[in-house]
Parts: sequence; structure tokens; C-alpha cells
Amino acid sequence: MENILEVKDLHISFDTYAGQVRAIRGVNFDLKPGETLAIVGESGSGKSVTSRSIMRLLASNANVDNGEILFKGEDLVKKSEKEMQKIRGSEIAMIFQDPMTSLNPTQKIGKQIAEPIIKHQAVSKEEAYKKAEELLRLVGIPNPEKRMKQYPHQFSGGQRQRIVIAIALGCNPDILIADEPTTALDVTIQAQILELMKELQHKIKTSIIFITHDLGVVANVADRVAVMYAGKFVEVGTVDEIFYNPQHPYTWGLLSSMPTLETSGYLYAIPGTPPDLLNPPKGDAFAPRSEYALKVDTMYEPPLFKVSDTHFAATWLLHPDAPKVTPPAEIVARQSGFRTKQLQIQPSDDLSQMSGQDLEGPQDKNNLSVDELTTDRDGKGEANEPRY
Ligand SMILES: Nc1ncnc2c1ncn2[C@@H]1O[C@H](COP(=O)(O)OP(=O)(O)O)[C@@H](O)[C@H]1O
Ligand SMILES: [Mg+2]
Repeated sequence: MENILEVKDLHISFDTYAGQVRAIRGVNFDLKPGETLAIVGESGSGKSVTSRSIMRLLASNANVDNGEILFKGEDLVKKSEKEMQKIRGSEIAMIFQDPMTSLNPTQKIGKQIAEPIIKHQAVSKEEAYKKAEELLRLVGIPNPEKRMKQYPHQFSGGQRQRIVIAIALGCNPDILIADEPTTALDVTIQAQILELMKELQHKIKTSIIFITHDLGVVANVADRVAVMYAGKFVEVGTVDEIFYNPQHPYTWGLLSSMPTLETSGYLYAIPGTPPDLLNPPKGDAFAPRSEYALKVDTMYEPPLFKVSDTHFAATWLLHPDAPKVTPPAEIVARQSGFRTKQLQIQPSDDLSQMSGQDLEGPQDKNNLSVDELTTDRDGKGEANEPRY
């Protein structure tokens, strides 16, 4: 299936008084028609900047330093603002965490849904209002004909997010980007909106990029998951691969800090804080927080290693010569239930291009010395014991 979107080696920085913030440091991914890709990572990892770059809605101090964003084969980075205005809302639509940022408090809901339809599609006013009413019904707002005449403040938070989704769907976008669409809502409403998105995806078959800091919500909505850390995708795979056969210590940490039904009391939290993107660290950016860090992590950035045709992770632990470490018990339990066909773990050359990480390190990743691949970071000859 041809990809509707291909992001290649994207690098974005922001000019600030303190210097250049390197927010996106070589992001690569693709999106297939009708698929839902979840992008997950802690706050500040670059999820919003990635999604805003697709819409070309970046702050004025942003620079796209490198990369391509191919939408139906055309590079959005090179489009004029006028061309982007045509694409925004009609071919690519975005919904944000706070529905009120997208709604006009002084305008009736019906008008707010119908207007973009009139603007982007060759339909009459009557047809557009008819469609607006259908959309309200589709997103689960009862009495749409009456509610069309009401204002945003007459709706609850969850209903407002439904309305924003209706507006986004108005022009049958090819891609819907949802940036933490449920984060501002309480848990039950959150579940309802997620259910709605799943249902809509089924009916409408729009491609969706679903952004969240909460790995717990993606299992139900996504086909594939990309785990983001410090401006990079550190692991990408199908939902099953990420949940039941995760390979990156950061993904292990995220999964371990997820509350489950069995969780009682103490919940694991990943130690430390994300790196300062004014001075991104050399090597693996997660290493300073990882119990599993190897010596090589402090020197060279790991490429994306191939785990399966759909699963890649950027950790030196996947290097054939790396020591075998035992993941946290909870992760081992997840993995034991996962039936892999055949795990072929190899550094993949096609993906070093896909990973776009300018490796300052050895070009031939198979030629790392055994010494570099020890877990011994401080030279005392003791392997780090996982302490999850
Ligand atoms: N306009 C800006 N100026 C400077 N830094 C920014 C700007 N916008 C975002 N950043 C920085 O880019 C990084 C990624 O931000 P963001 O994509 O919003 O994270 P997320 O959505 O994953 O929480 C953060 O370090 C953030 O501080
Ligand atoms: Mg964000």
C-alpha cells in the first residue's frame, strides 16, 4: 500500500535567547491510508512539534533544518503558505488538547462546522448545513438540528471535543492529527472520545496520527506505535510488538510506569529527567536514565535496529555483540506471551537511512569492539544490574 505521508530525516530547532533548542533530531516515519499511528512520549519529547510541522503551524522561531514531509508524494516543507492553507483543514486536519482553542465562543456550532465545508468544497449553504447536522449525529451529539443553533459554552468539555472532531471531519481529510485530544478530559469522557475515534476510523477510514503522553490509551486506538524520546523515534512497531515485545529500555520504562488492574500502591516512575535539548547528549539520549546503558551509549548514537519487518528500536542492546540483559520482570512476562515468528535482529542499513541519525560513530556497526559493548560505563568491571 502506498504511503499517504512520509517524514524523512526531519530536524527542527528553535531559536531562543539561550541558544538553539534541537527539538526534533532526525525523525522518520510513514503513514498508510486508513492506519492509525500513535506517537507516545513524555512531555517535551517533540510530539507536538512533529505534528505541527506537518500542518506547518510551527512557532515563528522554528527552523526546519533538514528533512522532507511528503504528503501524497509532495514535500510540505516546500509549499507556500497559500498552498498550505488549502491543505489545512481540507486534506490534513488537526485537533488539539483544548477544544476551546479551535472553537469560536461567539459563533453557533452549526456555522462553525458548515463554514469550512463551504470554503473547501463546492457545495451550497444548505448542503453544508445538512452535512454539519449529519456530522454532529455521527460524533454522537443528540438532537443535532437543535444543537446546531447553540454556542460552545452550552456544551460540556467532552461534547466540545466531539464538535471539534466533527469540524475536522467536515472536509473528509486524508489525515487527521489528534494532539492529546483527551488529555484535558476526565477519565470516563476520555474513554468515550477514544471509542468515538475508533468507531470513526472504522467508518471513515481516515489515516490518524494520535498523539499522547499516555501509553495506556493507545492499545485500543492505534495500529502502530512510535515511541518518542528527546526529539527522536526510539522504537516503532505494531501495537502488539510495542506492548508485548518491547526492545528499548525507554519503552520498558513507559510500560512499567503504566497503571494496571493488578497495580497496587507503588507505581514505577522512570528516574531522572529528559535531556536538555539546548545541548543534546552525545550517544543514546536515554542512557543517563537507563539501568541498561552500555559504554557505547555514551559515545555513539544507536541506529534503529530491525526486530521485524514492522518493528525497529534504537538501542545498542540489539547489537549482535551486546551483552544479553534481562528486562524488568514485568516486561519479561509480557514478552513470554508474545509469539514471534522469527526474531531476526540485525542492524538494518535501509533503516540507518530511515533513522536519519547522523551517526558520528562507526559506520560499520558490526565493528564495535567488545569493550565498547560492555555494560561497564565507569570502568570498574561490574555490569549494571537492572533495578526495575
Ligand atoms: N516555540 C518554541 N521555542 C523554543 N522551544 C520550543 C518551542 N516549541 C517547542 N519547544 C521545545 O521543543 C521541545 C518539544 O516540544 P513539544 O513538541 O511541545 O513536546 P511534547 O508535545 O512532546 O510535549 C521541548 O523541549 C520544547 O520546550
Ligand atoms: Mg504536546
